[in-house]
Amino acid sequence: MNFRPFDFSEADYQAYVEVLNQTHPEVLRSVGEVQHLDKTRARDEVLGRFMVELEGQAVGVAEYESPRNAPKAHAYEVRYGVQPGLEGMVPALWALLMEQVSRLKPKELQTQARENWPEYGFYLSQGFVEVDRRWDSVLDLADFDPTPLSRPLARGIELKPLSELPYTQDIFQRAWYDLELKLLRDVPFSEPLVPWAFEVWQQRHVEDPNLLPEGYFMALEGEKMLGLTMLFKSSRPQTLQTGLTGVLPGHRRQGIALALKLRAAKFARAYGARYIRTSNHQINRPMLSINESLGFVREAATVFLRREFMC
Ligand SMILES: CC(C)(COP(=O)(O)OP(=O)(O)OC[C@H]1O[C@@H](n2cnc3c(N)ncnc32)[C@H](O)[C@@H]1OP(=O)(O)O)[C@@H](O)C(=O)NCCC(=O)NCCS
Repeated sequence: MNFRPFDFSEADYQAYVEVLNQTHPEVLRSVGEVQHLDKTRARDEVLGRFMVELEGQAVGVAEYESPRNAPKAHAYEVRYGVQPGLEGMVPALWALLMEQVSRLKPKELQTQARENWPEYGFYLSQGFVEVDRRWDSVLDLADFDPTPLSRPLARGIELKPLSELPYTQDIFQRAWYDLELKLLRDVPFSEPLVPWAFEVWQQRHVEDPNLLPEGYFMALEGEKMLGLTMLFKSSRPQTLQTGLTGVLPGHRRQGIALALKLRAAKFARAYGARYIRTSNHQINRPMLSINESLGFVREAATVFLRREFMC
């Protein structure tokens, strides 16, 4: 087994994505997505990525990086993937990854895995404990009938896609960013979210190559932004991926989120997608209620794990 640093060449990106997509075809990635994440890494964020080879062929990957959403001193996200059938290599590649990350003197390691993946059991065996759980779920638009759910919004409230709003202008982006920060405060993350600085948010979110200005909807009262939902392009065939959905506290329980989601579903159909995917915290009853009423079907949960690191 050869364990070597990733060299950031096109060939390595291709091999990295192929290995991960063969390992878990249910979570497809593209080279463009991985490169976007790598390009928007902040200066103080670290990344160590390694390719695992057998007879010169890439068969696995392993990496550590600074957590993106809740950065903490001396905390690192770690993960690995090996092609199906090669799970016997995991203890050896894990030992090599731990050797690399231990140079950073970590206090905490973080990871995530779907509950039905072999990685889940392996991480538990390495002393990781569960801290959060999210359900991925999918709506099949072929069977979807929005009619029984549709109801009018209060007077003066309208839904508009970003493509009909001045979303490239700085003043608009500042208000949009403020809205997202307010909404994120109420998402039940297991650890407080550390918001990205405005400039980082612009690079990672507004300039995300998967962002669809026609599939990203705002609820507005005049110029005041009340809420939003967003669909992103996905590497999965015929699929769009939901990002954040949220409505400001003073405007909740007026059917705004449901109307936003229905508008997004209408867009997805017109776009030619068959599936909409989303991911929700298991304790987010308000959002789960809306998704259940729309007909989203749950898949295996993604489990978020932590390990206190003993050097
Ligand atoms: C989840 C959220 C977007 C719902 O927005 P909203 O505009 O209040 O939702 P709606 O008014 O469209 O609700 C539609 C239905 O969903 C269900 N629902 C909404 N909020 C609920 C709650 N707090 N508890 C239980 N059911 C709820 C109800 O069935 C409701 O219909 P009803 O009001 O006639 O009973 C909002 O609570 C929010 O912004 N939360 C914080 C951000 C967040 O967690 N987003 C999800 C993560 S992606």
